[in-house]
Amino acid sequence: MMETTTSITRNKYNRNSGLYDLFEFPAEILLYGRWRKQLFSNIGNQKFLEVGVGTGKNFNYHPAGSMAIGVDLSEGMLRKAKLKSKQKTKILIQTDIQHLPFADATFDQVVATFVFCSVPDPVVGLREIRRILKPDGKLYLLEHVLPENKILAKLFNAFNFITVKRGGFFINRRTAENVKAAGFRIVKENNLLSTVFKSFIFEPG
Ligand SMILES: C[S@@+](CC[C@H](N)C(=O)[O-])C[C@H]1O[C@@H](n2cnc3c(N)ncnc32)[C@H](O)[C@@H]1O
Repeated sequence: MMETTTSITRNKYNRNSGLYDLFEFPAEILLYGRWRKQLFSNIGNQKFLEVGVGTGKNFNYHPAGSMAIGVDLSEGMLRKAKLKSKQKTKILIQTDIQHLPFADATFDQVVATFVFCSVPDPVVGLREIRRILKPDGKLYLLEHVLPENKILAKLFNAFNFITVKRGGFFINRRTAENVKAAGFRIVKENNLLSTVFKSFIFEPG
């Protein structure tokens, strides 16, 4: 069952990869770019793992001198990322966050931006990250989540089926709860836009 939903997600991102950067451009200029810069200011210039690397929108914000391994499910998204990764120190791997090909306690830092809205089973994916993260490691996230406002939350729940069908992402995920269910505790949580867009730092709990 999870196998099927995962291939549906992969197909949707493959299909949307061509126009992904174009569609995201306004939000990128107005909001996301600033938030990405802020998130990556926490990352030291050592090796880190970026999961759901997509088209490589974060590459410009990776700290100078850092070594990044990026993984993504979609070969279409990775193809775009490869074009941006030229002259930069990146290793890109097509793989599923829900089954990461790394040994336990490999990484000090894991980053994901706008990813756990689309991973078919987010708790399974986050448990994998918990496994490959060192016990004193940190997980950095940018996410959109279900708003706290009850009326807005109803709207997000009502329209969720459209974003899932069209784009393969959920607008009603309770990501902080999912990360906690995977064995992490919150170090820091910031509201970036209302209670919908948030940045988080987690550590193994
Ligand atoms: C909304 S995009 C975000 C891309 C990028 N992080 C960004 O900030 O622009 C979500 C990405 O997560 C990837 N993804 C979704 N489920 C995944 C999974 N199970 N394993 C690996 N990547 C996954 C998708 O292929 C897509 O590239």
